[in-house]
Amino acid sequence: MQNAMFNTIQLGELTLANRIVMPPMTRSRASQPGNVANQMMADYYAQRASAGLIVAEGTQISAMGQGYAWTPGIYSQEQIAGWKLVTDAVHAKGGAIFAQLWHVGRVTHPDNIGGMQPISSSALKAENVKVFIDNGTDEPGFVDVVEPREMTTEDIKQVVAEYRQAALNAIEAGFDGIELHAANGYLINQFIDSEANNRTDEYGGSIENRLRFLGEVVEAMTDAIGANRVGVRLAPFTSLNGTVDKTPVETYTAAAALLNKLNVVYMHIAEVDWDDAPDTPAEFKRAVRNAYQGVIIYAGRYDTKKAAKALEDGLADMIGFGRPFIANPDLPNRIQNGYPLAAHDPATLFGGNEKGLLDYPEYQAS
Ligand SMILES: Cc1cc2nc3c(=O)[nH]c(=O)nc-3n(C[C@H](O)[C@H](O)[C@H](O)COP(=O)(O)O)c2cc1C
Repeated sequence: MQNAMFNTIQLGELTLANRIVMPPMTRSRASQPGNVANQMMADYYAQRASAGLIVAEGTQISAMGQGYAWTPGIYSQEQIAGWKLVTDAVHAKGGAIFAQLWHVGRVTHPDNIGGMQPISSSALKAENVKVFIDNGTDEPGFVDVVEPREMTTEDIKQVVAEYRQAALNAIEAGFDGIELHAANGYLINQFIDSEANNRTDEYGGSIENRLRFLGEVVEAMTDAIGANRVGVRLAPFTSLNGTVDKTPVETYTAAAALLNKLNVVYMHIAEVDWDDAPDTPAEFKRAVRNAYQGVIIYAGRYDTKKAAKALEDGLADMIGFGRPFIANPDLPNRIQNGYPLAAHDPATLFGGNEKGLLDYPEYQAS
């Protein structure tokens, strides 16, 4: 049944060539100064344009939204122009590409945000979480995150406006749409998950309150660029970057219902991805399918067999292959033909140059 992966699928107004997603992966190679996407990144994404959909790496919506050195932004004209190189290169090869819009909230260090104190839903420090800063060498310098300050309602209004503007900027840069990064412990996740949010106003407490910021951001973006160009990524069961929810099935089923009401074009669920990770409960996947009518994407340790089965079971519409896409630019072709997959070099994931970015070859039959 691996051919299920090669059926086309409608995503808003786009007809995607297959069910394979290249999920967002930070590679930390934006040009400095200014965190600007560049030709090297354009070449990297163009090499992978045979994915049904590319979601480009996490891209900060503001200077305050940056968590790590050398990640690209989408809030200056120069950054928009940089991304135009990328979207043009992918479209020239017939691909489709969304931007992942990112605000890290508390998962950062003052050195990455101009000396400011990070902001979050609450003044709660993420424990045992490190980010990397530019320490003057080519290697990332890992440091502990610091305690954030609780966002005021004025801060919330401002960040919602920044998301809205970033969505408009993404369209100006030629992206086919945007994915809101509400996963993996970053700002929106810091509002959603019970253990990261101790607010006592309308943005904290009940599930409805903890989902309010997500809803406001999504509404601002769908209002700006249309719901059929807005997808959302969530991570219900991960404790990545120190966010945990006490009742994830309940919380994230409610999130699915909210996103259905807001009519977003897809829901992208990042599953836990460490080696001995538990499977996402099937009961939860069924609840999401019932609550949400759009396209559903899952990612996290999929191989061909598991992906085909997920599509066949009817609980997923598309599947993301993250790490496999790094070393296999022609991944869909390899999957379709059963060719072996190359392994990536972990040492060249973040920072650096073409090495480990552009030099993974397509499969050659010997
Ligand atoms: C190098 C690297 C960078 C990543 N950066 C992001 C990111 O910017 N945004 C995001 O939502 N997920 C990010 N992820 C998570 C992936 O999108 C994906 O969910 C994860 O790798 C699991 O899929 P896999 O097992 O197929 O690799 C990253 C993963 C890797 C390996």
